[in-house]
Amino acid sequence: MQVFIIGFMGSGKTTVGKKLANKLEIPFYDLDNLIEDKEQQSISSIFETRGENAFREIENQRLRDFSGSDHYVLSTGGGTPVFHGNIDWMLANGVVVYLQAEPAFLASRLKNEKSKRPLIAGKNDEELKAFIDEMLEKREPYYKRAHFEIPAKGLNAQKLNELATTLT
Ligand code: S3P
Repeated sequence: MQVFIIGFMGSGKTTVGKKLANKLEIPFYDLDNLIEDKEQQSISSIFETRGENAFREIENQRLRDFSGSDHYVLSTGGGTPVFHGNIDWMLANGVVVYLQAEPAFLASRLKNEKSKRPLIAGKNDEELKAFIDEMLEKREPYYKRAHFEIPAKGLNAQKLNELATTLT
C-alpha cells in the first residue's frame, strides 16, 4: 500500500504521516528528507542556490523514482501536488490523503517555523497571513482531489484509527 499525505505547509503532514504509518505497520518517509539525502543539500539551500524551478524538478523526480518499499506512507511538500502533474501521478499510484487546515491554524503553526521554509522565511505576521490566504486558494483545488480529506484540527488517536481502518 502506498499512502501519500498532502496539504499545506504547517498542517502537520509529517506528524500525522508517522502516526498513520505506525498504525498501518508500514515504513514512513518524508519527501523533503528524501530530497535532502539524495542531493546532500538542505531544501533552503536548494532554493537559494538553484532556484525554485530546479527544486520542483528534483521534487518531481524524487517522488517518481522513490521506491523505498512496496508499502509506505510518504508525506509530501506543500507544493508537491501542484507541480509537474504530481497529483495525477499520486492518485494513480496510491491512496492520497489531504490533511485539511484553515488559514488561522496554519498561521499559528507556521509563525515560529519560518526559517527552514524558504517560501515564508523573512515574512512578518501580516505577510505570512496574506501569503497563506493567496497560496491556499491556488493550491486547494489540487489538494481537494485527494481520495480522502481529514481535518488537521482536533485530529486524535480515534480519528487516526478510523482512517487507518478505512485504508486497509
Ligand atoms: C513547500 C513546502 C515545503 C518544502 C518547500 C516548498 C511549498 O514542505 O517542500 O519548502 O511549496 O509549500 P512542507 O510542506 O513539508 O513544509
